[in-house]
Amino acid sequence: MARRRQLYEGKAKVLFEGPEPGTLVQYFKDDASTANGTKKGIITGKGVLNNRISEYLMVRLGEIGVPTHFVRRLNMREQLIREVEIIPLQVVVRNVAAGSLSTRLGIPEGTRLPRSIIEYYYKNEALNAPMVAEEHITAFGWANTADMDDIVALTLRVNDFLSGLFLGVGITLIDFKVEYGRLWEDDDMRIVLADEISPDNCRLWDSKTNEKMDKDRFRRDLGRVEEAYQEVARRLGILPEAGSRDLKGPEAMQ
Ligand code: TMP
Repeated sequence: MARRRQLYEGKAKVLFEGPEPGTLVQYFKDDASTANGTKKGIITGKGVLNNRISEYLMVRLGEIGVPTHFVRRLNMREQLIREVEIIPLQVVVRNVAAGSLSTRLGIPEGTRLPRSIIEYYYKNEALNAPMVAEEHITAFGWANTADMDDIVALTLRVNDFLSGLFLGVGITLIDFKVEYGRLWEDDDMRIVLADEISPDNCRLWDSKTNEKMDKDRFRRDLGRVEEAYQEVARRLGILPEAGSRDLKGPEAMQ
């Protein structure tokens, strides 16, 4: 079968033209890099696991009425998604201090925050994704106030739901990043959850031991990176059936 036309290649994913208008195929790579690009590497099987984990979380969120771009998983590394107009924001939610919040404000990692905090970062790699306020977002027209109301409401629901879901499998959702897109249907526009939700863009700590089960193991050279991604999938009950053999298999390209 002829290869599909590639539309975009990011650090962890590739987007191909989809089989029907308004659809795309999202391909998950094993490549990993840090936000500022100082460290690059491969996490074997990450693409397979993130495809599966993101599918699972998007489907569960869809079930509680959170609109998402996800249509269906196609194979080990690919999923069919709806084409959306990406809003150029990284929306970060924090429940517990970690990472850049701890560095910026001097709050020790692991401190439970008085309430969940939402932050926005402008999706611009050349500028290193700077933090922005709602004032910048509306002034520069990246999103309007109605869009922001939707984004905040959806993000809080996603946080509540995912916090509970992960807690149920012994994992604390420390923080995470999501992205949104505009989905056009005739003249109607809806804001939907886009991109992916996986250990690449969440901080997940074992609830009992506080052991890190996410990309910080790669970012901070903690070792056992592959195992951490597998353990998240295992706890969610979605480890690929053939186990680790599946993770190293040939890259499925249809
Ligand atoms: P931070 O503490 O580095 O600001 O990250 C907060 C959360 O957002 C963390 O779960 C990792 C995620 N994140 C991304 O997914 N992509 C990014 O480019 C950044 C900076 C953070």
